Amino acid sequence: MDLEEACSDVAMPQGALDPDGAAGEVVPNIARIRHLWLGGDRHRPDDGEMARRIELCGPHIPYLVREQRALVRRQVRFLAERGITQFLDLGSGLPDQGYVHHTAREVNPESGVAYVDIDGSIASDAAALLEGSANARFVVADCRDVAGVLDHPDVRAVLDPTEPFAVLMTELLLHIPDSENPEGFVASWVEAMPSGSYLAMSHFGEDDQVLEGFQIFESLKFGRFPRVNLRSRERVAEFFTGLELVEPGVVPAPLWRPEPNTETVRNPAEVRMYAGVGRKG
Ligand SMILES: C[S@@+](CC[C@H](N)C(=O)[O-])C[C@H]1O[C@@H](n2cnc3c(N)ncnc32)[C@H](O)[C@@H]1O
Repeated sequence: MDLEEACSDVAMPQGALDPDGAAGEVVPNIARIRHLWLGGDRHRPDDGEMARRIELCGPHIPYLVREQRALVRRQVRFLAERGITQFLDLGSGLPDQGYVHHTAREVNPESGVAYVDIDGSIASDAAALLEGSANARFVVADCRDVAGVLDHPDVRAVLDPTEPFAVLMTELLLHIPDSENPEGFVASWVEAMPSGSYLAMSHFGEDDQVLEGFQIFESLKFGRFPRVNLRSRERVAEFFTGLELVEPGVVPAPLWRPEPNTETVRNPAEVRMYAGVGRKG
């Protein structure tokens, strides 16, 4: 059996990586693969197999995911300390241990959190992870439908959109190609936010090693790597047009308000994953 034959039975992640992909159970699934890299146990054997293949081609990708999770915690803590008590996490994946609702509640136990993801195949795992968490909901919805998300009864149960709230887009725009006008998408969310609200984002950059990893993935006949959209730091900064950028602006993720005395990487400026937070005045 050659490698191509051996790999042909492993389906590529669809729905989660391709919002227009097939509905229903998606195995392997990008949200569960990220959950696995973060130490979670809600994954299937095919998720594990795909995770190993991605690690083989891009060994630093799991590390970027963990760095990104540490960043989200810093962003949420920063926002909660500035009085934000409502969080809307768009393209949330699974609400793992230590994610938005845990972090926000360390600052204010009353914080409300709505997690929104288009991928219905993770809904039961998400519900199990949120069991017993008052004021946190997981909603299956397409976040390109701004009004539909804000009017969703489960979102309304934990978030009043007439009061300031924080919108998180952690690696969501990776899935929105230029042909779908990601700037317009972000602007439509900013328009819907009352003043005093915040947008927090992180986005993989144009990383040669990641691109090379995709090529290796394909040359090893692991399949066609699903389309993702890497963007430059300048492009990521443009998404904050019209918002007051919080210091230090849009920077490599490890440099976004690092906690004192935590050495993460030796060359943080080289990390091609950009982060920023903006406030609507
Ligand atoms: C790379 S994962 C990031 C997950 C999570 N934010 C994290 O930091 O671990 C992107 C997620 O966005 C979701 N997604 C993609 N397009 C979406 C859309 N139009 N609406 C809602 N979710 C979407 C995918 O299903 C996937 O779970």
